[in-house]
Parts: sequence; structure tokens; C-alpha cells
Amino acid sequence: MAIVTEKQAVNLLRQGQVVALPTETVYGLAGRIDSEATLRKIFAIKQRPFFDPLIVHVHSIAQAKSLCSQWPEIFDLLIANFWPGPLTLIAPKNASVSSIISSGLDTVGIRCPDHPLTLALLRTLGTPLAAPSANRFGHTSPTTAAHVEEEFAQSVAVLDGGPCAVGVESTVLAAELSDDTWWLKILRPGGISRAQIRDCLKGANIKFELFREESSASPGHLKSHYKPAAPLILLNQKLWSKETQAEAEKQLQRPLNNAVELRLPETPHEAARVLFEEFRRLSLPKDAAIYVTRSAAQNGEDWEAVFDRIVRAASVTLI
Ligand code: TXA
Ligand code: MG
Repeated sequence: MAIVTEKQAVNLLRQGQVVALPTETVYGLAGRIDSEATLRKIFAIKQRPFFDPLIVHVHSIAQAKSLCSQWPEIFDLLIANFWPGPLTLIAPKNASVSSIISSGLDTVGIRCPDHPLTLALLRTLGTPLAAPSANRFGHTSPTTAAHVEEEFAQSVAVLDGGPCAVGVESTVLAAELSDDTWWLKILRPGGISRAQIRDCLKGANIKFELFREESSASPGHLKSHYKPAAPLILLNQKLWSKETQAEAEKQLQRPLNNAVELRLPETPHEAARVLFEEFRRLSLPKDAAIYVTRSAAQNGEDWEAVFDRIVRAASVTLI
């Protein structure tokens, strides 16, 4: 099975099948949250370990709240600005969320995807959908229907919604209220930047601290992830030269005669949009290797999501 129509996608999901769906970030491998067999299928198809929790996709705030035992008030503000969109919110879950989804945590990650086909499908279905990115575990996330087909050799039904506009996954955010201050933890940088979150909350009369937390709280966000088929070499404020090539060859223990540069577009927005597509395209030639230079200007917050992916995808980093 490969490309399916919207109607077929709805029917398959109703029956408890897994279908790859378009979102604005990356394609997701979706299944209904009220079927444990379906949830297990998602993990099996992805070859994903059970310690990595799934994000639940909803079409409305009401549907999001129906999954939670408590609702951090600050989420209303964030949702008013960013939903539908690439922001996943972590909230205490209730019993309607299987521990397969949460990997045994007492929280659930929820987001409302900004894609007309998938939003319409969620409304028709009436059941929230769990969906991790539609790639094999550890691989580059898919941003087109063709990428999904490459990942699973046509064994998965795909609803084609065109190329993803954002190109990297959603920002994952948890919130805790303590001493009158909201502590906002970015567990994964993504489609919504820190500056956007700050700007949204600045006008509201609340105290908040926004920070990045790299911890086991986002257990699936492993050090090594998003790997392209060809080895990726990250050059921190360095250019590709005889010396850097020799050092990379030493670390990879293979010659790099076909290394090509990944040239990032000028804006972080555009770079995010093409990043995973470029990982795949540049991996195609025989014996390919990819190198990418991070300039000083790209150390800024705006580039956080793009370089989070590149750093994790890199097989070699030369500082
Ligand atoms: O943009 C996206 O978020 C895409 C599209 C398909 O929606 N989905 C996606 O899912 O990236 P996935 O499974 O590849 O990544 C989910 C991330 C993982 O890093 C996981 O650890 C984190 O979200 N996550 C999910 N539930 C969590 C929870 N309850 N607490 C902390 N982190 C959670
Ligand atoms: Mg993923």
C-alpha cells in the first residue's frame, strides 16, 4: 500500500490501522489513541523503543483538555498564539491516555497540527491521533510523502499533503508554576522559537522564565538522532580543508573522496524547511559524505532548532 485518499485514510484509521499523515512540521505515523494494538503497531513499524513517548494530535483545545488531569493556565495564552502550529505542550495526563503513549510518564505531549488535510481528518475522526515522525527510529524525519515511502518501502499507507512548510519538528514545552513564576522548559527546540514564545508572553501580566532543559524528561530526544544515510561532518567555524578532511577520515575510518557541502540557506526559517530534504538528497551518491559549516552568526537563538538537529545528526564534529 502507498498513497491513499483522505477517505481511505479515515477508514483505515477508524479500523485501527496506521497511516502516515502530513503536518506542517514533518510527516507523522498516526494511529488512534484508544487502541493499544494500534499504538503497538506504531512502535513496531518505526522500530522505536517503548521508552520514547508519542505526541498526541488534536483538532481543538477542548480535545486537548479531555486528555489532561490538570491544565496549566499559561497554555491558554500559548495556544491562542501558536495553535494550530508547531508547539507541543506537556501536561499531566488522565486515564484516557494509555501508558504506551506516555512511556509510563504521568504526562502527555499534545499538539494541534497546522495542516488542512490532517486537521479535517482529526475533526471527521473525532478521536485524537498519536503520531511520531514517520521515519525509522534514529533516521532523518520525512518532509514529503515520497520520503515516507522511502523509509518504509511502500508498506505504510500515506496521505500526501505536499511538502512540509516548517521542515523540523515541533517545539516541545513543559510548564510548572512555582513561587508565582511559570517555569517554561523547552525539552526540544523546534518550529516555534524562544523569541516567539517570549514575545507572546511579554504582553501578558505574568512572571515567567524560559529555558532549555536537556534531560531525560524528553527521553526520546537522544544525543544521536536524525542521522542521514551518509555521514554528516559538522565544522564549527571552520572550513573544509585538507586538515579537516584528514581529521574526519581518521574519526570515520574511511576515505572521504566524495564529500559535498550542505549549504544552508540564509534564514533559519528557510534552512529548517530544506534541512531534512537536503540530508536525503546529498546522501544519494555512492560513498557520499556531507559537511556543513556553522558560522558565528548561526550561534544565535534563531538557529537553535536547525543546529539541534545538525548536532545530533553529525557523525563527526570538529571544533
Ligand atoms: O512536529 C512534531 O512534533 C512531529 C509531527 C509528526 O507532529 N512529531 C514528532 O514526534 O516529532 P516524535 O515522536 O518524533 O518526537 C516526540 C518528542 C520526543 O522527543 C519525545 O521524547 C517528546 O516528544 N515527548 C513526547 N511526550 C512527552 C512527554 N510526555 N514528556 C516529555 N517529552 C515528551
Ligand atoms: Mg522523531
